[in-house]
Amino acid sequence: MNAIGHDPLADLAAVLAKAAGLAPSAAFDGRIDVAGDDSSLGAFVKQQALMRAYQARYVVLPEDPPAGGVLGPLRRYHGEARLRALGDLRPGLEAELIAPLAPVGEGEIGAYVETMLAEIRGAAPNGFIGFLAEADHRDDHYRNFLVQSSPDLLAEASASALGVIGEYGEPQSALFRILIDEFGYGVPAKKHSVLYRATMRSFGLDDAYNAWWPWFDAAALALHNAIHWLFQNPRNVFRQVGFLLHAETAYQRSTLAHHRYLRQFHPDADARYFSEHAHIDLHHTRMVIDEAVTPLVARFGAEAGGEIIAGAELTKAAFARAGDHLLDVSRAFAAAPSAAFGVEGDPRARLGRPVTPASPLDGAPVRVGALGVLRDGRDFAGFPPDAIGRVWA
Ligand SMILES: [Fe+2]
Ligand SMILES: [Fe+2]
Repeated sequence: MNAIGHDPLADLAAVLAKAAGLAPSAAFDGRIDVAGDDSSLGAFVKQQALMRAYQARYVVLPEDPPAGGVLGPLRRYHGEARLRALGDLRPGLEAELIAPLAPVGEGEIGAYVETMLAEIRGAAPNGFIGFLAEADHRDDHYRNFLVQSSPDLLAEASASALGVIGEYGEPQSALFRILIDEFGYGVPAKKHSVLYRATMRSFGLDDAYNAWWPWFDAAALALHNAIHWLFQNPRNVFRQVGFLLHAETAYQRSTLAHHRYLRQFHPDADARYFSEHAHIDLHHTRMVIDEAVTPLVARFGAEAGGEIIAGAELTKAAFARAGDHLLDVSRAFAAAPSAAFGVEGDPRARLGRPVTPASPLDGAPVRVGALGVLRDGRDFAGFPPDAIGRVWA
């Protein structure tokens, strides 16, 4: 907000709420929160707005037709007024939220790739999985992990699909072959986003894209938006390759850890999303290195290599921040004296006012993601700064 009290994000929130209408299906629920007098919510609401700007590029249809028909909400969601409002704010939001995180690529790409592979193969065990193995209420911690990871994964690879359109030679075709795998070779049941939905369902969670938007915290949104900033700006094409380089390599390891964890502690859960990645991302890593990174650097030289490194480093930092944050929130919840684990019902049914740990908190209960409710909301003051709760009165 500026000095005269005009808040462009509050104006945007009004445009988005109007386009959503009453009781929208998740697919057309493009609302954001309003920070109002709580200045600690500013960064969170900006991340929500940027997510809405990026989501506007997607086609998402509801599972069941809306009561009044599909065309009305579809046209409002993708209507000119809504898209203009989002498009006007997007460059400023990107400059403020993403650009400061984007490193300059330094070093030589061949050496960088070798070091990266060695580091990931020799990495310490997954911290969150280690925490879960010792934790009570594993189901609730895991539900929150699934929810906070879902902004991107419920439309997995749709962001990177935007980097494959156009015409740029053999590397493009290699990336397209990876994309085909991500989309299950055209078989819905094998599409990675559909496998992720199956895991969410097996934990009793609503699996509709965007159903959980009120519960995404600022760190989850920051990761989603960093990925989309890369792929929704074609000037980042070499950084996009850097994203894939890091993500495909890191994912073979992290998904293997999750697969083993689920087999041991949740044997009835649907773990195919993780077993599939632990296998196929070995191939994707080689494809990115041999068929995209190497030929692009041979063709365009060290400046392309530097950009690839910059994209990989941005990706590494964004995943690390989101992962560390998730673990910190789980730890804080487990340690909170008034914590009551467990949530149920429709995630959009009860939208209490959002709060951060720096918000003025009275004793009113605060719900935190898919973990549960703090019966005394003042406990939320000890949570990590990017955590988001909602007053659960
Ligand atoms: Fe995938
Ligand atoms: Fe992959």
